[in-house]
Amino acid sequence: MASATGTGGEPAARSRVAVLLSGRGSNYRALQEAVDRGRIPAEIVLVVSNVPGAAGLEAAATAGVPTRLIPHRSEPDRRTHEAKVLAALDQARVEWVCLAGYMRLLSAEFVERYRWRILNIHPSLLPSFPGLDVHRQALDYGVQVSGCTVHLVDAGLDSGPIVVQRAVPVLEDDTPESLAERILVEEHHAYPEALRRLLREPWRVEGRRVRFHA
Ligand code: GRF
Repeated sequence: MASATGTGGEPAARSRVAVLLSGRGSNYRALQEAVDRGRIPAEIVLVVSNVPGAAGLEAAATAGVPTRLIPHRSEPDRRTHEAKVLAALDQARVEWVCLAGYMRLLSAEFVERYRWRILNIHPSLLPSFPGLDVHRQALDYGVQVSGCTVHLVDAGLDSGPIVVQRAVPVLEDDTPESLAERILVEEHHAYPEALRRLLREPWRVEGRRVRFHA
């Protein structure tokens, strides 16, 4: 894996960020709040959803953030859908892309267009339990600790270099829902922290590792 150098440094200019989501959008809202409080040197210039009526899209519109609904179902293939998303990102002059519950895999071409400028959040301690039905997987396996991971996106499934992880104990009587709820609280800290560090601090990718102050 080639290395890359971050754009972080002091004082940081505000980076143009897009959030891609498919549903509730609580991670989008956590990012937006951190941006609004001046904790992240960024501006969320666009929120894109592939799902009509996604609550996250409505929250963004209410907050006055530009939104785009780009449904995938009406498109013949992934490439055509992604071309529309990329065109929207280009039009908004987006520099960073945050996936926040975006239920679409990105093609290698898309990932390459924003190399080491796409972040994702996943509700487990990767590399354990990538993919879907994560909390059920964790409980079935019997782990005593789970958590969340914010990582840079590569062409694999939940496989890119890790930026921030936060651990959460699994309780005796946890259900997938109760575990998800406790992990979500940590997600809302982890995602803003990851973006803030990447935008404020020097960093580079070395092998699988994101090295800050390197
Ligand atoms: C979160 O659990 C996130 O880790 C996963 O999808 C969920 C999205 O939740 N990728 P929300 O839409 O941000 O509330």
